[in-house]
Amino acid sequence: MTTKELLLSPVAEPAKDAGDRITVVGVGAVGMACAFSILSQGYSSDIVLIDVVEEKLKGEMMDLQHGSLFLRNPRINASTDYAASAGSKICIVTAGARQQEGETRLDLVQRNTDIMKHIIPPLVKHSPDTILLIVSNPCDILCYVAWKLSGLPQNRVIGSGTNLDTSRFRFLIASRLGIAPTSVHAWIIGEHGDSSVPVWSGVNVAGVRLRDINPDIGTDHDKENWKELHEKVVSAAYEVIKCKGYTNWAIGLSVSALVYTMLKNINGVHAVSTYVRGLHEGLDYEVFLSVPCSLGKNGITNVMKQNLTPSERCSLKFSASAMAQVQQGIKF
Ligand code: NAI
Ligand code: LAC
Repeated sequence: MTTKELLLSPVAEPAKDAGDRITVVGVGAVGMACAFSILSQGYSSDIVLIDVVEEKLKGEMMDLQHGSLFLRNPRINASTDYAASAGSKICIVTAGARQQEGETRLDLVQRNTDIMKHIIPPLVKHSPDTILLIVSNPCDILCYVAWKLSGLPQNRVIGSGTNLDTSRFRFLIASRLGIAPTSVHAWIIGEHGDSSVPVWSGVNVAGVRLRDINPDIGTDHDKENWKELHEKVVSAAYEVIKCKGYTNWAIGLSVSALVYTMLKNINGVHAVSTYVRGLHEGLDYEVFLSVPCSLGKNGITNVMKQNLTPSERCSLKFSASAMAQVQQGIKF
């Protein structure tokens, strides 16, 4: 008899898995920030890493496994074979090219669309009930591409979208007010990128709308120039990329928060990228953009119908037209 047989007296077959498998495709800076955030917060006990670079996969898997003692002993596996992702509740896609200094997210569209063609079909084949969480850029357009390629219903094809932009926005407002970001209720909607839309009309702390205090907030004639906070949100990625070459920690934490609310069926409300055609007057494009959505085990369960001002609605429509224009040029 082996040591194990002498030590263990079997009572029952162990369960196949914990039923909370998360697959992360792309073990680059963003993918590993997502995986590490999810594991370190204990949101899943079963992570599968997928990539095309075998050595990198093996190294990242082993490096995470070696921390298991501090991570509530999760299952951490990695493979270039998508069969390893079978049964995933959520598949996070972070694979693809990232923008270099001087590039915009939209410059990546065809390169990363081509990559999505190799990733989405095998993910859905092995996990037909999964939720796709698209992070690769341009996130809103790649969400549309993933929706088309996967054939999944809209509620289960989600982009991380402006959940990250909203976090940046709330951090900047909170810093100016000297209170916690969790106490600032503020939303960025639209494109995760240059045409994002700050919903200044809804920004509030404890129900006190800043626009009721400062009617010019967010406009060009605001003496306090609060508008610059949204400008800083738009420039945030470019600034970080200029300093360190890429962004990863905030997006990793942002994705981890989305995983938590879906995996635990919390139904939290987050600004994520979803199909928005017909949501607001004039949104006549077949595009994905971020709006506040409630998220649970079945993906998007509700979209919040915000009372946008005419100017906010106009900006959202511009964002939609910008996405539609880029989408027209995609070669599937
Ligand atoms: P990276 O270059 O560090 O990692 C990309 C990974 O994708 C690499 O490991 C590469 O081997 C893998 N990959 C490439 N082709 C693949 C394929 N066909 N199948 C599987 N894996 C493949 O890039 P990084 O910094 O992790 O960025 C990844 C993406 O995330 C970029 O498109 C970037 O723009 C985007 N991003 C999105 C954010 C958001 O808020 N939505 C925030 C930050 C980055
Ligand atoms: C961001 C870019 C890279 O960090 O999408 O917002």
